[in-house]
Amino acid sequence: MSTSPDPTQSTDSTDSMDAEFDTVALWTAEVVAGLEPAQRIPAGCRGSGSPGALHWLLDHLEPESDQVFLDCGAGVGGPAAFAARETGVRPVLTDPEPGACRAARSLFGLPALQAGTQLPIATGAAELGWSLGVLCTVDDQPAYLAEIRRVLHPKARFGLIVYCASHAGDLRLEAPEGNDFPTVEALESMLDRASLRVLDSGWTDHFAAFPADWEDVMGTVQRELELRHGDDPRWRTAEEQSGRMGALLAAGEVRGRMLVLKPT
Ligand SMILES: C[S@@+](CC[C@H](N)C(=O)[O-])C[C@H]1O[C@@H](n2cnc3c(N)ncnc32)[C@H](O)[C@@H]1O
Repeated sequence: MSTSPDPTQSTDSTDSMDAEFDTVALWTAEVVAGLEPAQRIPAGCRGSGSPGALHWLLDHLEPESDQVFLDCGAGVGGPAAFAARETGVRPVLTDPEPGACRAARSLFGLPALQAGTQLPIATGAAELGWSLGVLCTVDDQPAYLAEIRRVLHPKARFGLIVYCASHAGDLRLEAPEGNDFPTVEALESMLDRASLRVLDSGWTDHFAAFPADWEDVMGTVQRELELRHGDDPRWRTAEEQSGRMGALLAAGEVRGRMLVLKPT
């Protein structure tokens, strides 16, 4: 008799987030390991902006070659590898999910520390970095921002992509489990309370969608994952989660806010 959970039963938010950010991260790494090195970055960007949005952030962060670059909630490491390739920075990654950390190490050879809201980083040590698509998945958002503020050097710049609700009150569509989308006003007030000043801001949907070669790679990985794990309830849970997110974005209920911050 199968002991797998019944996929028709609802899972709690921890199970859903583990499926999406831990199990599927590892499965993705297995698939992506078989691709050409140049295809790994598009395959390893999960939830972040398009290359246009990532370039916008990098331009405003003004990185210097060889500078250490902190990526908090880095997932499987695609955006950090993109930053390294485009600007020569040296990424250090954190993510609470062990599968994501292992995936980032094996796919991109990047140092990845398993850590959530408490960062194993000295106060004031980080000069540069970002956190993309993470805040809405965090339990205590003010504590997460306060921790980022703690590790920033007084002259640091730090980028965020935050998925924001387009209006206060209930969303008109179901949100992915465990996600809580602040409005832009609520986000700005949280940043202010965390002593983080906004230098620049924009919206991810002002940039072109993923270019065709990125779409091709993403499609290939998606089909291979479906082939290998399509019957697994964890795959279907993760798919339902990302489907809900896609629907919210498509309906304009949620939008990606890009921010460049400095500590005050
Ligand atoms: C939507 S994914 C984004 C991954 C990556 N930043 C990207 O854009 O490709 C959200 C990530 O945040 C991580 N995460 C969840 N809670 C976190 C926390 N408290 N601190 C840091 N990362 C967290 C998840 O494990 C997951 O890898």
